[in-house]
Amino acid sequence: MNENNVTTKVNDRSQHGMWSSKMLFVLAAVGSAVGLGNIWKFPYMMAEQGGGAFFLIYLICIALIGFPVMAAEIMVGREGRMSPVNSILKLAREHNRSKSWSLMGWAGVVGGVVILSFYAVIAGWIMFYIWRMFSGEFTGIEAAASGEKLDAFLANPWQILLWFSIFIAIVVFFVARGVNKGLELAIRICMPLLFVLLIVMLIYGVAQGGFMDSVRYMFDFDFSKMTWETPVAAMGHAFFTLSIGMGAIMAYGAYMPREGSVKSAVGIIIVIDTLVAIVAGLAIFSIVFAMNMETTQKVGLLFVTAPTAFGNLPLGAIFGGLFFLFVGFAAFTSGISLTEPAIAYFVEKFKTSRVKIAVAIGVITWVLGLLSVLSFNLLKEFPFNSENWNFFEIFDKATTYFLLPVVGLIIAVFVGWFLPWDRVRKGLEIQSDLAWNIWIVAIRFVAPISILVVFAFSFHEKFIAPFLGG
Ligand code: PHE
Repeated sequence: MNENNVTTKVNDRSQHGMWSSKMLFVLAAVGSAVGLGNIWKFPYMMAEQGGGAFFLIYLICIALIGFPVMAAEIMVGREGRMSPVNSILKLAREHNRSKSWSLMGWAGVVGGVVILSFYAVIAGWIMFYIWRMFSGEFTGIEAAASGEKLDAFLANPWQILLWFSIFIAIVVFFVARGVNKGLELAIRICMPLLFVLLIVMLIYGVAQGGFMDSVRYMFDFDFSKMTWETPVAAMGHAFFTLSIGMGAIMAYGAYMPREGSVKSAVGIIIVIDTLVAIVAGLAIFSIVFAMNMETTQKVGLLFVTAPTAFGNLPLGAIFGGLFFLFVGFAAFTSGISLTEPAIAYFVEKFKTSRVKIAVAIGVITWVLGLLSVLSFNLLKEFPFNSENWNFFEIFDKATTYFLLPVVGLIIAVFVGWFLPWDRVRKGLEIQSDLAWNIWIVAIRFVAPISILVVFAFSFHEKFIAPFLGG
């Protein structure tokens, strides 16, 4: 036992670097989790998918699927100490399992690039709106005029391209500098500011008087608005918002020091991520309801409704600017994590400098992102699918609804069924038998079955029920 400990200690570092402490790992993971998913996607998906019903399913998925899968990912990363592809490969080899398991690591490499390609488009809008709000452009504005401003911005691909490119460049700059001088630096700067700004936003939101309406809107579980999309959207969003199902958290886990249990880290990350979604949702809906505005704006909620509301409230330019700054920090600390599975893998594979790899990944993401940039103007109508989704929506939904949950399912099966229990338990550092029993049941049965049930339900509603006249 002791000897074992000594040998593991010697190799117990990642070649890419290590977080300075467990606390920094937690902050980094929270930084990855808290992002546009919480502040842009969550409120508009609530609006699109019918408020409370979506919210309830999302919370259930966080508890039943998010918790065990995130712990499994961090454990695999920390045991492997390499990129997700190679960490999985290492564990599979050690326990005589097929090399094909590492394909899920590959799904994450591709998934990360695809997600960042559309994520950076919205992050670019956020940067533009930081500037727009502070400049006072929205002071006293009418909703229609605010809508026209967004339309005019989106109609011009060059302008979107500019902000999108700036965001990618900033991300590449920081990730190229490595885990400690890049990622950790970004996290140390952004995370404290992010929390302060969130509290400021909540106080400001409550002070405007729409708070109770927003509570009712979020927690009123109305199932009548549910469609085939609601459960997959809610489950997919649970994956998206926790950064699980594509290796981001696994890659971060590889740099987590041995001290401290995975379990407590996961608890903190999940609670903070969920709280931020709720608080940001309450703050946004509060100002929206305080102005008696509608929540039906979908994507426009953040870019039309919120700026209009701020523009008509006291000190709106400053608080609106701070609000978008807050969203910008959140998007940035998530953006850097999206690239890590790919960057770590290619650095290991080609044994070349991180700078070159980071630039290459940035270029690939940028080229792919052009399709999303154009989805708001030249390629807006893209009628080659039954739902009329443009490229932006196809990338978003293919990853959120499908790729993340499927990879999550495979991770659960791999860790729950194909790795020896003593290894898993040691990796997670779970001492109590009760906690272990709960966890192993969750990863073996609860998480995989929940994922399959949601898929089955939505598949039935979309493809089978219509034929049965349902
Ligand atoms: N969790 C991030 C958000 O909510 C997005 C993300 C997804 C980041 C997957 C990394 C991996 O915005």
